[in-house]
Amino acid sequence: MKILYVTSEAAPFAKTGGLGDVAGSLPPALAREGAEVAVALPLYRRIRDRYGDQLTFECYDYVDLAWRHIYCGLFSMKKDGVTWYFFDNEQYFDRPELYGYLDDGERYAFFSRAVVRMLDRLAFWPEVISANDWQTALVPIYLKDDGVREERYRSIKTVFTIHNIEYQGRFNPYVLGDLFGLDPGWVQDGTMLMDGDLNLLKGAILSADAVTTVSPTYANELKMAYFAHRLESIMRQCEYKLHGVLNGIDTEVFDPATDKRIAYNYSVGDMEGKAKDKAELQRMLGLREDPDMPIVGIVSRLVSHKGLDLVCEVIHDMMGLPMQLVMLGKGDQKYEEFFRWAGQQYQGRMAVALDYNEDLSMAIYSGADLFLMPSRSEPCGLSQMIAMRYGTVPVVRETGGLRDTIQPYDALRDAGNGYSFANYSSGDMLYVLRSAVYLYRDYPEAFARLRQRAMESDFSWKRSANAYLSIYAGLWGQVWPDPALAAEEEAAPVEDAAPVAEEAAAPVEDAVPVAEEAAPVKDAEPAPVAEEATPAEEGGKKKKSARKKHSGK
Ligand code: GLC
Repeated sequence: MKILYVTSEAAPFAKTGGLGDVAGSLPPALAREGAEVAVALPLYRRIRDRYGDQLTFECYDYVDLAWRHIYCGLFSMKKDGVTWYFFDNEQYFDRPELYGYLDDGERYAFFSRAVVRMLDRLAFWPEVISANDWQTALVPIYLKDDGVREERYRSIKTVFTIHNIEYQGRFNPYVLGDLFGLDPGWVQDGTMLMDGDLNLLKGAILSADAVTTVSPTYANELKMAYFAHRLESIMRQCEYKLHGVLNGIDTEVFDPATDKRIAYNYSVGDMEGKAKDKAELQRMLGLREDPDMPIVGIVSRLVSHKGLDLVCEVIHDMMGLPMQLVMLGKGDQKYEEFFRWAGQQYQGRMAVALDYNEDLSMAIYSGADLFLMPSRSEPCGLSQMIAMRYGTVPVVRETGGLRDTIQPYDALRDAGNGYSFANYSSGDMLYVLRSAVYLYRDYPEAFARLRQRAMESDFSWKRSANAYLSIYAGLWGQVWPDPALAAEEEAAPVEDAAPVAEEAAAPVEDAVPVAEEAAPVKDAEPAPVAEEATPAEEGGKKKKSARKKHSGK
């Protein structure tokens, strides 16, 4: 299958957030599963600076967008089994930042238009184009528009992925022709019109052959007003083509056994390095050096959907627990001010860095014991998966991908890989955090087993890549895996399947991702079972597979 993946960012070339991580690691994973994959990205200044000498110049052409006739250069690079294409226009992309310019609408309209215009210059004519978020929402729209006139564009199927529905690409409808080069029909029939605005995301959702989002639970949440930022009825209308596929993480980049960014390496079999990383973190941030004091880490953009209001509400109660708090992130001023102040109140027990700092974030993932993520909404969330990989047990609110990746700790059965709470309530958050802190302090062996299950949770891309491929293939009436490839695989040793990714747009009751036997223990104090009754191996792998649940659609 030939797939073109279109994105406004991809690691390691250019990244500002989760989309960058996903777009950097999903295409290689698709290629590993046997697809032919190319990625289209704008040639930003930072890519030219860092990778310029590794790029091959392919060709140039001019792209017509409304009355504009715009130069477009095409560069390429082969990496991880994928051809990466970079679309060059210095006026639009030779700038210090990726986003945040007044003409972002025009910049990404150019990029989307150029991708469609230059298709026959690429290594292959794609069978499927996969576009992401509002910046590339015009791709399925332009393909439909061109398809009216030229048959070959109708031969391409489109998939549109929503990473966060909050960002919709809204403009004054007046610019439809002038900026985007589209006929008035696109707003007149309502396809691109929402609450009086021109809405690119809505246009893409309606135009694409399939719509995906980054977790099964978020796919369901998107049909509710609380989560959908006004698009709930559109999402309900498009339910028939909506799929939730859980993101993975790059398990080679994020591997505590080999990661050069952390001070001491470690693994499930030898956790000594983690204890040293913890001491190092305490030293580095001026916290009291106490190996028995659990460190709770927060690494987050400081914006409202991350749920930090809950932390603000009960900060004194939290700090009344025997724990230390480390917080890294920047964002809205009100949170920055609050946490700066709080850090001063609890010197030696709370450290606050209002920054975006990858090295420090890795020091927290490796050095902390618990990882707090009380999000109000979270399409998928990658940090909780990274934290688990580094043996830092997550405490999360049950929303979106957090609900799909965390099985709450069950003391009775010695099961689960983290802690979670359902209601958006600071009291509930405090309650589970307290349970986690006391499990750490009073039942170290039970905590060690919980930590091990977290570390062994499988968030590799393999399974999700196959879920995408089966959606892509399905648009052509095909099944995936390709029977020929599957036969080959059978001959090879089978890897332990990752149990976490689901492809499902199922009714809410069906999408409950936790193992049936792992009933939440919200109202049970953590009274761990006798150590010998539950050998360490029992908790992890076997339990996880019980979470496999297919929507049967
Ligand atoms: C967005 C979402 C985040 C998700 C990421 C990658 O940043 O907010 O939850 O993990 O996209 O899909």
